[in-house]
Amino acid sequence: MEFYHAPVMVGVCLAQLNLKDGGVYVDATLGGGGHTEAMLKSNSTITVYGFDQDSAAIAHASKRLEEFSDRVHFIHSNFARLRTQLALQRITKVDGILFDLGVSSRQIDDPTRGFSFMQDGKLDMRMDATTSETAYDFINTASVEELTRVFREYGEEREAYHIARAIATSRAVKPIETTYQLSEIIDLSARSQHKIKVKARIFQAIRIHLNGELDVLKSALSQSIQALAPQGRLVVMSYHSLEDRIVKQFMVEEAKDCVCPPSFPVCQCSKISTIKILTRKPIGADASEIEANPRARSAKLRVAERKEEK
Ligand SMILES: C[S@@+](CC[C@H](N)C(=O)[O-])C[C@H]1O[C@@H](n2cnc3c(N)ncnc32)[C@H](O)[C@@H]1O
Repeated sequence: MEFYHAPVMVGVCLAQLNLKDGGVYVDATLGGGGHTEAMLKSNSTITVYGFDQDSAAIAHASKRLEEFSDRVHFIHSNFARLRTQLALQRITKVDGILFDLGVSSRQIDDPTRGFSFMQDGKLDMRMDATTSETAYDFINTASVEELTRVFREYGEEREAYHIARAIATSRAVKPIETTYQLSEIIDLSARSQHKIKVKARIFQAIRIHLNGELDVLKSALSQSIQALAPQGRLVVMSYHSLEDRIVKQFMVEEAKDCVCPPSFPVCQCSKISTIKILTRKPIGADASEIEANPRARSAKLRVAERKEEK
C-alpha cells in the first residue's frame, strides 16, 4: 500500500492505552490507520471505533484494515460528535480513547488539498471537504481585522497585522488563488529574516481557524471523560503549543476536587475529580524516532486515567 502517514510514538501509545482483553477503544483521529492497526495487531480480542472527518482517510484506512473488518468500525465524523456517534453504534462506555491531533502527512503532501506552502495548489485546507469555507474564501473575503486576529491567535505571529494588510492590498488587484501566491505575498511582505517560520505560522493559523481545531477539542475531551469506563485511558498527542495548552489545562481541571476559594469554610462547588493524570510532564518521541520522522519532534503526549464514578 502507498505511504500515507508514519504514526508517531506507536509503542508509547499502545503501552499507555493499556489494552485489555475484550476492550472497546476509540481512535478519534484515524488518519492512515497506523495507530489503529498497531492496536488491533497487539490484542486480537479488542474492538476499535475509528473516527475521521476526512473521507479520504476513512477510505484509505478501511482498505488498509480490511483483514480486521470484524473488529474495526469506521465513522466519518468530526470527533466533536464523539458521544452521539458512539450512541448510534450502541456504545456507552469505552476502555480507552486516542487523539493524534492535527493533519496527516498525506493531507499536507497532497497539493490538491492546499495545506502546504511547499506544494503549489489551490488554497483549500479543509480536512472535511464537505464543509463550505475554504482557505481561498477566507483569504479573499475576511476583513484585515479578522485576518489579523486569526494570524495572532492561532499562529502567534508578530507580523499578523502587517501580513493581513499585504494580503488585502494584493487581493484588491486580483484574487489570491494558490498556496504559492499566498506564500509569495508573505515572502515579499514579512520583515522577519525567518520567512519559512512566518509562512508556517500563517498557514497553521488559517488551517486551525478553518477547521475549528481548537474549538472542538475541549468539547471532545469532555465527551471522552463521559465515555470512558473506570480505569479507561485518555491518550492525547498534540503538535503545537496551543493544542497542548488546552489538553494540559483540561486534564488539570478534571483532576481537581473542590475548586472553592480557600476562604470558604465548607465546599460549595461539589466538584469531584474525574481523572488521575498519569503524565506530570508530556512524553516526547525519542531521538531515533525524531531522526527517522522529523514530524515526531513536536509531539507531546499526555495521558489520564478515568476514576470510578462517585
Ligand atoms: C495526525 S493524523 C492521524 C494519523 C493516524 N494516527 C495514523 O496513524 O495514521 C490526524 C487525523 O485526524 C483527523 N482529524 C483532525 N481533526 C479531526 C476532528 N476534529 N474530527 C475528526 N477527525 C479529525 C485528520 O483528518 C487526520 O486524518
